[in-house]
Amino acid sequence: MHTSIENLLNDQIKYEAQASMQYLAMASWADSKGFSGVANFFYSQSEEERLHMTKLVKFVNERGGNVIIPALDLPSDTFASLPSLFEKFLSSEIFVTEQINKIIFECLDKKDYNVHNFMQWYVTEQLEEEATARTLLDKLNIIGDDKSGYYLFDRDIETFAAAEGNA
Ligand SMILES: [Fe+2]
Ligand SMILES: [Fe+2]
Repeated sequence: MHTSIENLLNDQIKYEAQASMQYLAMASWADSKGFSGVANFFYSQSEEERLHMTKLVKFVNERGGNVIIPALDLPSDTFASLPSLFEKFLSSEIFVTEQINKIIFECLDKKDYNVHNFMQWYVTEQLEEEATARTLLDKLNIIGDDKSGYYLFDRDIETFAAAEGNA
């Protein structure tokens, strides 16, 4: 595997791990505020990101590359409100999509169609995750400052997320 691609895949291992820890911090924040539906949503997002990370670790090893398990930055753990929690979710997913696009670009540049093919799974995944984040943020924008709206949002989040194919 070309070194530039190996480096980008190692970076991606870090970004998926970082997202996993970020969503765990968000789940814990929601849990402590009594939003148990939102907490469950982010606990399971955190698990998913961990799987995305492990899938990359296994792939790089299969290809005979050198995996570096990274140290992580501290996740943000204080949020002003539910909407700011979901804005963080969307910006985190947009960041990951941009990084995946960089890998795709590099694969085409170095003509590594095997990694390119492997990464297609992530391209599809990012499309779904961004759609989920945008749907949930749209709902929160409709709710505005309504406390009872937050109660219903927390109760129904699993349904909204499932409708995006991403429960
Ligand atoms: Fe991911
Ligand atoms: Fe994600």
